[in-house]
Order: sequence, then structure tokens, then C-alpha cells
Amino acid sequence: MTKLLLTDKITCVKYLKTIACLWLLVVVLMSCSKPNEVVTSPDGNLQVEFKLKQGIPYYNIQKAQQPLLLDSKMGFQLIDQDDLTGNFKIVAVERDSKNQTWEQPWGEFKEVVDNHSELTIKLQEESGANRLMNIVFRVFNDGVGFRYEFPKQEQLDSVMIADETTEFTFAKEHDVWWMPVHSENSYYESYYRKNKIGETDTINTPATFETNDGTFFAIHEANLTDFASMTLRQTTEKQYISELVPWSNGVKVYAQTPFTSPWRTVIIGDNPGDVATATITLNLNEPCVLEDVSWIEPSKYIGIWWGMHLEKYTWGQGPKHGATTENTKRYIDFANENGFDGVLVEGWNYGWDGDWASNGENFSFTKAYPDFDLEEVCRYAASKNVRLIGHHETAGAVSNYEAQMEDAFKLYHKNGVNAVKTGYVNKYLDGKEWHDSQFGVRHYRKVIETAARYQIMIDNHEPVKGTGLQRTYPNLMTQEGARGQEYDAWSADGGNTPEHTTIMPFTRMLAGPFDFTPGTFDFDYQTPNNAKVQTTLAKQLAMYVIIFSPQQMASDLPENYIGKPAFEFVKQVPAIWSNTKVLDAVIGDYVITARKDWDSEDWYVGAISDENERQLSVDLSFLDEAKQYTAEIYRDGKGADYKTNPYPIIIENKQVDNTGKLKINLAKGGGVAIRLSPLQQ
Ligand code: NOJ
Repeated sequence: MTKLLLTDKITCVKYLKTIACLWLLVVVLMSCSKPNEVVTSPDGNLQVEFKLKQGIPYYNIQKAQQPLLLDSKMGFQLIDQDDLTGNFKIVAVERDSKNQTWEQPWGEFKEVVDNHSELTIKLQEESGANRLMNIVFRVFNDGVGFRYEFPKQEQLDSVMIADETTEFTFAKEHDVWWMPVHSENSYYESYYRKNKIGETDTINTPATFETNDGTFFAIHEANLTDFASMTLRQTTEKQYISELVPWSNGVKVYAQTPFTSPWRTVIIGDNPGDVATATITLNLNEPCVLEDVSWIEPSKYIGIWWGMHLEKYTWGQGPKHGATTENTKRYIDFANENGFDGVLVEGWNYGWDGDWASNGENFSFTKAYPDFDLEEVCRYAASKNVRLIGHHETAGAVSNYEAQMEDAFKLYHKNGVNAVKTGYVNKYLDGKEWHDSQFGVRHYRKVIETAARYQIMIDNHEPVKGTGLQRTYPNLMTQEGARGQEYDAWSADGGNTPEHTTIMPFTRMLAGPFDFTPGTFDFDYQTPNNAKVQTTLAKQLAMYVIIFSPQQMASDLPENYIGKPAFEFVKQVPAIWSNTKVLDAVIGDYVITARKDWDSEDWYVGAISDENERQLSVDLSFLDEAKQYTAEIYRDGKGADYKTNPYPIIIENKQVDNTGKLKINLAKGGGVAIRLSPLQQ
């Protein structure tokens, strides 16, 4: 019996030893195969996983434990050296996190919360040159950003990038709001359209995706610095791969280690409003580098501008020249009487005569036409507490502009001009480079930096897309980079469709402020192409709330505002906001946005519709509790219709509080604009 027990015991010990050995083996094997690295958003809703499969880097993204992006490859193809797409091992993994709040000098929010988890994967090639490449992920509650770092190393010095091979592989074939790259326009002045991924080709970012299960997300990039823009080439009905915009010689990016790529971003929410109000793009840019920002201020402006687009005035010399000293003084008087702080003057300088868009090298940025006295105009403006907004149209002739840029900003600065609108009307820059290439990115940055040295704010038309740089350079105020209201003056297709502005907040505007230039009050103009503003008057007002631009224009001719009660709203509406909420939206159908004034307790609401009339309800629960508000409502009047009669408008007051809902009726192509002011308690 005892003997038997002893044998049992020995067998048992042997057995346990074997199990322990096996367990050890499993542990050792597991640590050798390197488990996948996972990083989650602070609220736990988003998760990113990184892995190497046969040395190739992959990432995937989950939202609420459901796959959003499936395993997608990461890497770069290089010219004259091996690609950085595989043959990697992980040499280190680092983790970090941040939760802090920072303040903006202007924006859609006064405060921005930067709350994210960070994962850095340090990779090295297993053989060959043993080059190093890091991938950094930052996961916020409103999206995921990742970028590539190329550390300084002997094995990798000067680099010519042939392309980036980052994949975006979706779990399903979604609908995407997109616009093509370069084929229709080289500075994003195409319509966004909605298709299945598989029906698209190569598309620009921001591109916004609708799923059928309550998720909206967009792909874009943040902090585009000394790199080419990323576009997305469709490979299958569930995948895009990044494609960088080339220089004219085919090279995508010239770089030297150490350098980083811009952040690739996936902005993620449950509804369109979440995506529109996400702050991930700003958070992935560097903090402000300007020591003094006291000279940077929002502005509401008018301009000698719409008159040229309507062909009432000309940019060039002649009997209809718009930018005369006398005419500018008339605009300055109007600005002064109506509380506008800026008057934009286009066509003041030599270069406009003839076919200016094809002859940009003729532009002088310091020499005024004889009928425009820059110093006198600026002196007069200052005496009226108004500033001239300068204008530099380059027609894409970048070298000509760069040769004069320093003197041009110096001249404006000397005359008290603190904002300049720039322009690049031409298919190419310097006759051969794309606006969104590394060449373009370098030039636009040079303009922003030079302007900052002369305390000048920039409103950039025909730009490279915005990627949140206004955080670092808050003098980059606003950009075009979309079909603006000018299309309603001359576009051969008849002008912007009513749905265009219901799409912009969820697509183009993820790239930052938009100088759309609303404010048409006269709809009866005639131009050769018979183009028309396709909105009601009330929708023109509502767009001041819907479309964010810290420099916001009242674009119509001053004479068209005189005696119009609805002009009161244009005069009052702020250009910057301390808080923003999208209350309701269906992309392409309608939008309701509420924004709080930067400087007061007033809220403003804008609601706009596409070509359909609709009844909507504004939930007022965003207002402060226990406060009564006066709502000044500007709404479509009886018979208002963007096609047949845009004018009818009703202006009325109501008393409301945060428990109520306002029922609103939007006409076809219509809108509602509301100012909500707390009653004195
Ligand atoms: C195109 C701009 O978008 C527009 O605002 C400007 O008037 C013209 N270029 C001329 O510079």
C-alpha cells in the first residue's frame, strides 16, 4: 500500500514537472511571437491594434468592439533604395497618454480637450541595411491618428519617397462622400458626391463615410508639413491605399532624416455632428509658435469683390475699374456705418489687365494702379476705424510672388493692413506643380510664416487643403478650397446646388474654416451664364452660423443691404464661437447648428435645407437652465422658394427656455437664423 502510494507520488511529481516545462515553453514561445500591441481611447470605445505579419506592419481599428478598419498594411516605397514595407521586427514599444485642456485665440470652441492614449512602435529591418522606422498611434475619443517617424540614422539619410502604402481596409462596403483628385479642379472646387467605395476612383481627403449601423467616420490628415498631400486610391470595394501627390518629375516627397509624415487621421463618431465637431485634427497639430497673438483678430468684412464677379466692375484698368480710391472710400464709409472692420479690395495692383489667370508673372504686389492711392485709402480707413484687407492674386505664379513677397507684406504692414487674401487661380503652380504637392505645401507655409513676421493674417484661396495648421499659426485664418458663393455669379452649371452647403460641414469643413462668402441679398442680377444663388434670403443668414470662418464676409454690394431689416442679423452675428453643437443633420439634406458667441452669453442657431422644404424641430436643451431667452427668429416667409421667390422673410421674437423645442419650417432651399439672448435677470 505504502509502496504503491510512493510510486503514485513519484509519477505525480514527474507529471507536474512535465506540465510546468510545457507551460514554460508556451510562455517562452508566446513572448517570442510578440503579442499584438493594443491601444484604446480614454473612454474605451475605440481600439487600435498593431501587429507584424511576416515582418509586414499592420493596424486595425475597432469601435465598440466592432471592426471598423480591418488589418491594413503600413509602409513606404522609396526611390533608389529598398522599400520600407516589410522585413521588420519590433525593437521597442512605448506608451504614453495625455489629458489636458488648451485655449484657442479664436475658433469654434474656446477650449479644446486633448485626451488621448499613445502607442509608439519602434521597428527595425531584420536584415539588409537594418533601417529604423517608428509608427506612433494616438487614440482620442473622437478618432485615431497615426504617423511615421524616420529617425536620424546612418543607413537612411536623404530620401525620395515614391509613395506611401498605408491601407485603409474597411469591414464593409460603405457609402463615401468624396471628390476626385485633379481631374476636375486642382484646388478642391468640385462637388462632393456620394457613392459606394467601389464606385469611386482616387479621392481627396477629407472623405466622409456613412455606415448603416450608426457610425460616421472620415479619413483626413493633420499637420501637413513639408510633405505631399495624401489622396486615397480605391483598390477594392472595401479598400483605399494612400497615394501622395507628386512633384512634376514624379517624386512624391524629398526628405532627410530625421523627419515625420503628417498624421493620418480617422475621425470617428456616431452621427455627422460628432465628426463635424471633432477636435482631433487640431489636437494633432503643434501648439502655437507665435509669441504674440494679440494682433490676430476675427473680422467681419465687405469688399470690392462681388461687383467683379457680377461684371459690374473689372479687376483690370478701364471705365469699370472697381478698386478706385473713391469707390474704396465709399465701401469704407459703409463698413464704418454698419460695424464691419475690414474692406477687401481686389484689383488695386498692376497685373490684372488682359488674361491675368494665364499671365501671373505680370503681377506686381507693390505697385498700385494710378487711380488707387494705397496710402490715402489706408489713412482714410484708419480714420474710420476700418482696415483695408489686402489682396495678392498670384495666378499660380509662385516664383514671381516669392520674389516680391517680403516687400509686399512690408508695404501692407507699413500702411496698417493686418489681413491679406491670397489667390492661386491656375491649374498649376509655376506652370507645372500641383497646389497640393510638396512644392505647394512648402510655398503656402512660407506665405504664412512671412505674413506672421509682418503681423498679417491670411485668407488663402485656391489653397492646399487645411490640416489644422491654424493651431500652430493662428494667422492662417481661413481658406477657400471648395466651391464658394462666387460660383453663383458665373458658373456654367448655374451655381451651387441647394444641397452643396448641407454637405460642406461634414466634408470640406473638417479641413478647417471656409471663406464661403455668404450674404447675398439681391437675387435678381443677370450674368452671361445665368448662374444664380440657389437659396432663400433666410438661408443666406443661416449660413453665417453653419459655415465657420473667423473672417466672415458680407459679400453683396453695399447698396443691396441698405434699408433691409434682415441685414441686422448679418451685422450682429459673430465670426468666432466659444462652443459649437450640431443639433441635427442628414448629410446632403439638412443641418441645424447651434453656436455660442465667443464674447457673450448669446447663442445663435442656423438651420438650412437642400432643395426640399421641411419641418424640423430645434431642441433648446443646450441653453442654460433656469434662464429665459429672447429668440430673434429670421425665417422663410410665405411663398419663399429658392427657385421662384427667394425674398420672403419673417422676423419675429419669442421667449424661450431650455425646456422647449422650436418648430421651424424651411422652404425649398431655405433656412432659419436665430439669435438667442438671455433676458436680464
Ligand atoms: C478666385 C477667388 O476665389 C476669388 O475670391 C477672387 O475674387 C478671384 N480669384 C480673383 O483673385
